[in-house]
Amino acid sequence: MSSLKRKDLLDIQSISVDEIRLICNSAKYFKEVFTRSIKKVPVLRGKTVCTIFYEPSTRTRLSFDLAAKRLSADLIHMNISMSSVVKGESLIDTVHTLEAMKADYIVIRHGASLAPHFLSKNIKASVINAGDGFHSHPTQALLDTYSILEMKGTLEGLHIGIIGDIKHSRVARSDIEAFKKMGAKVTICGPPTLVPDEFKGFGVDISYSLDELLPQLDVINMLRMQRERQKGSLFPSIREYTRNFSLTLNRLRNSKPDIIIMHPGPVNRGIEVENAVADLPNAIINEQVTNGVAVRMAIFYLLAGGVPLEELNEE
Ligand code: CP
Repeated sequence: MSSLKRKDLLDIQSISVDEIRLICNSAKYFKEVFTRSIKKVPVLRGKTVCTIFYEPSTRTRLSFDLAAKRLSADLIHMNISMSSVVKGESLIDTVHTLEAMKADYIVIRHGASLAPHFLSKNIKASVINAGDGFHSHPTQALLDTYSILEMKGTLEGLHIGIIGDIKHSRVARSDIEAFKKMGAKVTICGPPTLVPDEFKGFGVDISYSLDELLPQLDVINMLRMQRERQKGSLFPSIREYTRNFSLTLNRLRNSKPDIIIMHPGPVNRGIEVENAVADLPNAIINEQVTNGVAVRMAIFYLLAGGVPLEELNEE
């Protein structure tokens, strides 16, 4: 594959295994840039990136901002709460305003599913989905895939568990698609109220017992309990949830010794994972953040028409 021949990056569904491999291979080269004293390359000099987040974010927003800066782009971040959005300006008018300022990339997080897809059809700039509603978080899935490849060399034949609040998770939906495309077996696990039957259509196995599932797993991805999205009582209490689904040192005694522990963040320590577990050497939560910058650099580079970096090195 020579390059990403697309304007936008909207979801995992629409990208191929070859494209996922190309992004991950390119991210490896960009990660090497972080080891240099000057962590910057001139790939996007003269290009303008605009990040607009209608929902809160730490990791995704800062890593897109940093990725753009490390590629030497001009960066504008739009602060929604201090913008004309609070005066009622629509999404499309807001983005047309950014286009009028010649933004080349619009990175958007929005509470409405498919908002980035709507924009992509209506503007010339490249649209990158930084999370839309419950629907999709493709760059998280790509950095999670990259992180597993870095640790295990392949996803082919691995058994990956995704645990917790699957129902409200765009990360779960995108991770499932990416991990399955790359050849992994995926089991989702949590209380029945947070693991809806509709997920059977995603080609995953379903488990309601972490203790039964854990010994089989090569990788475990603990999801955040999204209490801000939960309506009504979906489990008896946090204590009950923690007793059955928190990843504890005690539970991990029954896991494979080389299991990789992941979490997209932000972590509710003591709920999804016991405090001590988040700091184990095989917990790669902070490495996922580092990889997120490299993967997002690779995405900017490839959407700009960049060729595979190994081809450049061969010249
Ligand atoms: N993983 C993730 O999307 O985190 P943020 O909400 O902090 O961006």
